[in-house]
Amino acid sequence: MPIKFRLALLPLFCLLSQTIWAATISPGSSLLASNPNQTWSSPDSSFSFGFIPSDPATSPPSFTAAITYSGGVPIWSPGRSVDSAGALHFLSSGALRLVDGSNKTIWDSDTASRGVSSAELDDSGNLVLRNGTGAAVWSSFDNPTDTIVPSQNFTVGKVLRSGMYSFKLVKNGNLTLLWNDSIVYWNQGLNSSVTNNTPNLTSPTLGLQPIGILTIADPKLPTAAIVAYSNDYAEAGDILRFLKLESDGNVRIYSSSKGSGDKIERWAAVTDQCQVFGYCGNMGICSYNDSNPICGCPSLNFEPVDPKDSRQGCRRKMEIKDCPQSVTMLDLDHTRFLTYPPETDSQIFFVGISACRLNCLVNDPCDASTSLSDGTGLCYYKTPGFLSGYHTPALTSSSYIKVCGPVIPNPPSSLDSAVKKKDWKMRAWIVVLVVVASLLGLMALEGGLWWWFCRNSPSFGALSAQYALLEYASGAPVQFSYKELQRSTKGFKEKLGAGGFGAVYKGILANRTVVAVKQLEGIEQGEKQFRMEVATISSTHHLNLVRLIGFCSEGRHRLLVYEFMKNGSLDDFLFATEEQSGKFLSWENRFKIALGTARGITYLHEECRDCIVHCDIKPENILLDENYNSKVSDFGLAKLVSPKDHRYRTLTSVRGTRGYLAPEWLANLPITSKSDIYSYGMVLLEIVSGRRNFEVSEETDRRKFSIWAFDEFEKGNIKGIIDKRLADQDVDMDQVMRAIQVTFWCIQEQPSHRPMMGKVVQMLEGITEMGKPPSPRAIIEGPIIERPVSGTSTSLVAPSSFSSFQISEVSPSAPARDMETATASLIQSDLS
Ligand SMILES: *[C@@H]1O[C@H](CO)[C@@H](O)[C@H](O)[C@H]1NC(C)=O
Ligand SMILES: *[C@@H]1O[C@H](CO)[C@@H](O)[C@H](O)[C@H]1NC(C)=O
Ligand SMILES: *[C@@H]1O[C@H](CO)[C@@H](O)[C@H](O)[C@H]1NC(C)=O
Ligand SMILES: *[C@@H]1O[C@H](CO)[C@@H](O)[C@H](O)[C@H]1NC(C)=O
Ligand SMILES: *[C@@H]1O[C@H](CO)[C@@H](O)[C@H](O)[C@H]1NC(C)=O
Ligand SMILES: *[C@@H]1O[C@H](CO)[C@@H](O)[C@H](O)[C@H]1NC(C)=O
Ligand SMILES: *[C@@H]1O[C@H](CO)[C@@H](O)[C@H](O)[C@H]1NC(C)=O
Ligand SMILES: *[C@@H]1O[C@H](CO)[C@@H](O)[C@H](O)[C@H]1NC(C)=O
Ligand SMILES: *[C@@H]1O[C@H](CO)[C@@H](O)[C@H](O)[C@H]1NC(C)=O
Repeated sequence: MPIKFRLALLPLFCLLSQTIWAATISPGSSLLASNPNQTWSSPDSSFSFGFIPSDPATSPPSFTAAITYSGGVPIWSPGRSVDSAGALHFLSSGALRLVDGSNKTIWDSDTASRGVSSAELDDSGNLVLRNGTGAAVWSSFDNPTDTIVPSQNFTVGKVLRSGMYSFKLVKNGNLTLLWNDSIVYWNQGLNSSVTNNTPNLTSPTLGLQPIGILTIADPKLPTAAIVAYSNDYAEAGDILRFLKLESDGNVRIYSSSKGSGDKIERWAAVTDQCQVFGYCGNMGICSYNDSNPICGCPSLNFEPVDPKDSRQGCRRKMEIKDCPQSVTMLDLDHTRFLTYPPETDSQIFFVGISACRLNCLVNDPCDASTSLSDGTGLCYYKTPGFLSGYHTPALTSSSYIKVCGPVIPNPPSSLDSAVKKKDWKMRAWIVVLVVVASLLGLMALEGGLWWWFCRNSPSFGALSAQYALLEYASGAPVQFSYKELQRSTKGFKEKLGAGGFGAVYKGILANRTVVAVKQLEGIEQGEKQFRMEVATISSTHHLNLVRLIGFCSEGRHRLLVYEFMKNGSLDDFLFATEEQSGKFLSWENRFKIALGTARGITYLHEECRDCIVHCDIKPENILLDENYNSKVSDFGLAKLVSPKDHRYRTLTSVRGTRGYLAPEWLANLPITSKSDIYSYGMVLLEIVSGRRNFEVSEETDRRKFSIWAFDEFEKGNIKGIIDKRLADQDVDMDQVMRAIQVTFWCIQEQPSHRPMMGKVVQMLEGITEMGKPPSPRAIIEGPIIERPVSGTSTSLVAPSSFSSFQISEVSPSAPARDMETATASLIQSDLS
C-alpha cells in the first residue's frame, strides 16, 4: 500500500521541509499564518510562497497566503485572508488547501485524487503541482488571480479579477476590462496595421516580456504584436515587471527592483482613471483635484455609504419612493454618467437637453439621465441600477439625477476654498452675519405678514411643501395624485368649460394658486407616452402660451393642471351679446389678442425645439388673462389622442373643430403647420367681425360668413365686416385693414399660399408689405384639388411666390411636405 507507506514517512518530510529549503514541496507540508518567516521558496530565492500581513492592515491582524517577489511584492494569492491561526496545507491527497483558524476551507486547488505527488515553486514564480510522471496537473500561472508576470501565458478564457473588475483577452486579440462581468469600459484592439494584414487569430496569447513589452502572440502572426511598452522598457537591472489589475479597476504594468519591496507604475491601460466604470461607487462622482482622482457625492441630498471610504459610493438621504415632497431633478453641469456597452436601445434617445432632463423626471423607471450636449443630440437614460459619474470642466455633457426636493447643492470644493482661504475667512464672516441678519429680518417680516393675512384662515400653516416656490420656479411639471386634484377642485364641481379633449374645472391648490384642471378623455396612449407628452408641453414656455403646472397620471385618470386665466376664453367675448355676458373687447384689445395669439403660435411652429402643430386653433382655445393678454391652450394634446402620425390622420380621427379645419383635413392631405394658419385666419376674421366664420344668415345671402366677407372686402365694404359693437368706438382702420387682409391670406385653400406664422406677425404689425389677397376659394372652385387616388396623391409644391403655383405628382413614399414649414415633429417620433 504505497499511500500508507507515504503516510508513515510524513513526520520526517515535515521536519525536512521546515529545516532545509527544498525546491520541491512534498505532500503533507504546511505553512502557518502564525509564522510568516516560514516559506516555500524558488531555487534562486527570487520568489517565495508564504503568509504576508494583509494590506491594508486589519485588527485583529489577518494574513494572506501569497507568492511574493523578493522584497515582498505579491504576484499570486489564492483568495481571501485568514486569521493568525490559519494555515496552508499541501495535503497528501494532492490538494493544496487554505484553511482558517476553525479549519474551514477558504480555498482549494481541487487537485485531490488527480495523482499529484509533488509541488514546486520555480524561478519564474510559477507554483506547479505535478503527478508521478512529472506532468503539471495544476499551476498558479494557469490560475491567475490579479497579476501576470513574464513567461506566464495569458490566454483566451483566463481572467484577472479584482473586486467588481475583471480583465480578459478576447478571441480576436482585443483586451477588455469589465465591471461586474458585464460593462466593458475599456476595449483595446491590436494595432490596425497588424490586423489588416493577417487573418483571424486562432489562439492569441498575451505575454509580458521581461524587458517590459506587453505582446500578443498567435500562430497566425509572424511576430508577436506589441500592445504596450512600459515606460522603463529595456531598462537593465534586476527588475521584475508585472501586469496587475488593481482594485481601482485599472490594469497597470509595474516594475519592482529585487529586494526593494516597492513597485513603480510604468503603464496604465485606462489613462483617465475617472473613466473606469464604478470607480467612485454607485452614484459617486469622480473628478480630479490637482492630479488625483477624487470621489464625491452629487449634492447634499446624498451621503457617502462609508464616510471613511469615498469610493464606496453614495446614497440618497431620502429615497425617491419615500419622498414626502415633490421629486425634482438635480442638475449636474459638466458631468456624465458613464455609458459603456452593453447599453440597450431603450436607454438611448435623440432629444434635446431640456427634454432629456424632463423626460427622465416624469418617467418612473428613469433614475438619472445624461445629455451629451456635444451636437450629437444623444441622451442616455439610466434606469435604477448602478450610476457611475464623472465630472470635469472639460466635459460638455449635462447630467440629471432624481432627488427628493429641494435640491441642496454641494458646498464649493475644498480645493477652491483652500486657495482663497485666508482672504475669504474675514469676508465670509461678514457675509454670513449680513445674510443671517437679513434672513432673520425677512423671516420675522414674512411671519408677521402670514399671521396678519392668515390668522382667520382655518388652514393657516397647512401649506404643503409640495408646492414650494422652488418647485414652480424650476419650471418642471409637478405630479399630483388624483386625490389631491379631487380635493382642490372640490370633487370637480366648478366646470369652466368642455374642450375637445375633456372638461375643465377650476381648482385651488394647497398653496392657494388657482388652477384649471383638465380631465382628459379618450386618451389612447399609455402612461409612458403621456408622460413624455407632458414633458414636451411643459418644456414649451411662452408669454402667449398657457403654462402647464402639473399633471396626474393614475390608473385611467389623465389630468393636466394649467394656470388659471381670469378672463376665460375668447369666444365668450366675441359671440355672446353684451347683455348676456357683460363682456366686451375694445379694438385695441382685439388687436393685441390677435397679435399675441400669432406670436404664441409662431413660437410653437418655429421657435421651440420640438415643433408642435396645434391642430385645434379656435376662440375656445385662446384664453385671456386679467390684462387681456392672449394665451393659447391645448397645444400638444392632439398627439395624445390619435396614435397615428399627424400627417396621415384619417378623417375619422379628426379632432379639430369644423369651421376652423383647413381643407386638407377633409382632403386627407398632409397636415402641416399651414393647417394651423388656416384656423388662425378664421379666428382672426371672428375677432374683427364678432361673428362665427361659418354663420349663415339672410344678411350674408345664405352664404358662410367667411365667403360673404371676402366679397364685401372685394367691394371695399370693410365697415360691413367689422363687429357692429365697434361702430361707435375708436378703431384704427389701418389695423383693421391689415387684419382683414391677413385673414384672407391665411384662409387660402391652398396651403402653400398661406404665409408662415412668423410672417403673419410681421404682416399684422405692418412690418411686411402684403399684396391684395386672391380669393380664398379660387382653388376649390378650380379643378385642382382631388381626393388622393390609391398609389399616388395629387399634391402641390410650394410656389416661389404667392401668385403662381404648380402641380406635381408625388409617390406616397415621398409625401408632399412643404419644406419651409415646421412639421409635426413630436417627441415620440424621436424616441421610437
Ligand atoms: C521572523 O524572523 C525575524 C527576524 O528574522 C524574527 O525577529 C522574528 O521573531 C521571526 N518570527 C517568528 C514568528 O519566528
Ligand atoms: C481539518 O479538517 C480536515 C477535514 O476537512 C481533517 O481531515 C483534519 O484533521 C482537520 N484538522 C484539524 C487540525 O482539525
Ligand atoms: C500525469 O499526467 C499526464 C497528463 O495528464 C498523464 O499522461 C500521466 O499518465 C499522469 N501520470 C500519472 C502517474 O498519473
Ligand atoms: C508559454 O507559451 C510558450 C509558447 O507557446 C511556451 O513555450 C511556454 O512553455 C509557455 N509557458 C508556460 C509557463 O506555460
Ligand atoms: C452585477 O450583475 C448581476 C447580474 O448580472 C446583478 O444581479 C447585480 O445586481 C450586479 N451588481 C451590481 C452592483 O449592480
Ligand atoms: C476591438 O477593439 C477596437 C478598439 O481598439 C474596437 O474598435 C473593436 O470594436 C473591438 N472589437 C471587438 C470585437 O470588441
Ligand atoms: C502599429 O504598428 C506599426 C509597426 O509595428 C507602428 O509603426 C505603428 O506606429 C503602430 N500604430 C499604432 C497606431 O500604434
Ligand atoms: C474571420 O472571421 C469572420 C467571422 O468570424 C469571417 O467572416 C471571416 O471570413 C474570417 N476571416 C478569415 C480570413 O478567416
Ligand atoms: C488630492 O487628493 C489626494 C487623495 O485624496 C490627496 O492626497 C491630495 O492631497 C489632494 N491634493 C490636493 C492638492 O488637494
